[in-house]
Amino acid sequence: MKSVIVLGAQWGDEGKGKIVDIYSEFADTIVRPTGGNNAGHTLVVKGEKFVFHLIPSGILHPGKKCVIANGVVIDPKVLLMEIDRLKERGYLKDDAQLKIGLLANIGTTARGIGPCYEDKIARVGIRACDLLRPESFAEKLRASLDVKNFLLKNYFGGEEVPFQATLDEYLAYGERLKSHLIDTSLFVNDEIAQGAKVLFEGAQGTLLDIDHGTYPFVTSSNTTAGGACTGSGVGPTRIGSVIGVSKAYATRVGGGPFPTELFDEVGQKIRDRGNEYGSTTGRPRRCGWFDAPVVRYANRLNGLAGVALTKLDVLSGLPSVKMCVAYEIDGVRREQVPLSLTEFEAAKPVYEQVEGWKEDISTAREYGDLPKAARKYVQMIEEVTAVEVSLVSVGPDRNQTILRKNPFRA
Ligand code: GDP
Ligand code: IMO
Ligand code: MG
Repeated sequence: MKSVIVLGAQWGDEGKGKIVDIYSEFADTIVRPTGGNNAGHTLVVKGEKFVFHLIPSGILHPGKKCVIANGVVIDPKVLLMEIDRLKERGYLKDDAQLKIGLLANIGTTARGIGPCYEDKIARVGIRACDLLRPESFAEKLRASLDVKNFLLKNYFGGEEVPFQATLDEYLAYGERLKSHLIDTSLFVNDEIAQGAKVLFEGAQGTLLDIDHGTYPFVTSSNTTAGGACTGSGVGPTRIGSVIGVSKAYATRVGGGPFPTELFDEVGQKIRDRGNEYGSTTGRPRRCGWFDAPVVRYANRLNGLAGVALTKLDVLSGLPSVKMCVAYEIDGVRREQVPLSLTEFEAAKPVYEQVEGWKEDISTAREYGDLPKAARKYVQMIEEVTAVEVSLVSVGPDRNQTILRKNPFRA
């Protein structure tokens, strides 16, 4: 069984892009199953930085096939910009390297991810294949704009979206994307049948899952392992393993419960050293200590085979490092993430403190290169989450990685 799902074990921005880039070397096909351009996945290769919102992070490996599957919501303008920029930088030389699901949903109102998923669930969404049929697209666009423009004008007091200009603009996008559009479920399943190693790149994080996250402070899709199957049209029996990406601390963008959030100078130090400013919006990310119940929860929901632990280097130089091992809610110790938002908001972290390390670890390439205190911290994460740490990342660059176990060989 050679398929591996990589997903976020926290609140997003765990470093999935970097990890997918690393694992892509061992894979043949890289699939993005869910989410939209709310995602921002950053990779750094030999000092050169790339940020992907829709294109799978395997694209920098020439010859590896990349797939944007049906579960993704696509803003064609953003996607085409991403394609153009990659080509300018000498990548994606062959259009056949990037394949897009005919049934992926297209956002036409420039009003974000939520509204696009709303349309999809309400069964009035516009799909990639619609862009190839001008008459039926015009009909769907007309119906959509009738409702949206009514809301834009009367509810939001904004400008209407013009029909003809939008029709022309999006038909032109369809023309440009045409050569990429295929039945991606058929393609990926055929790849698997032929023995290809397939890597699924999750977006967002477990706690942002629409069904299992901190609702309503979540995104509009299933970010957990099952979502990778539904989003790409691949059965769960075809999946070999699931790797959860987690920072060595925790961050969150936007509202919602975050028990270990730090409001002091330690939080600011982590934000500055970890450059915790959103890759999509530039917003400062909320920062806090590692939250073991959250990663335990991610293990339960996703059946993790391993944790890829990122940004361990950011904690260097702190005299001591804290880890939340449980919560206290209304005076009672709780080991699990509470399902009630009120309880989660009231949760006080129960911390264990370990000694910090002073050494710069960004040049470590073997596990044994890490100082003893850092190794002890990693071991503690394995103990409190009951998942092995199969990769340690010590910097943003591709080569700043300690690969302890290759998920395609395990
Ligand atoms: P994603 O959305 O999960 O792909 O994560 P983002 O790309 O939004 O955010 C992760 C950020 O951390 C990016 O800027 C990465 O370049 C950076 N990064 C990833 N791994 C490491 C690491 O081990 N150390 C440091 N210092 N930065 C890292
Ligand atoms: P990646 O893939 C971090 C957050 C937003 C907001 C909430 C809902 O880069 O890890 P949405 O646009 O999805 O309706 O926003 O979820 N959010 C993310 N936070 N990383 C992401 O993606 C995120 N995608 C959405 O900040 O609070
Ligand atoms: Mg991100």
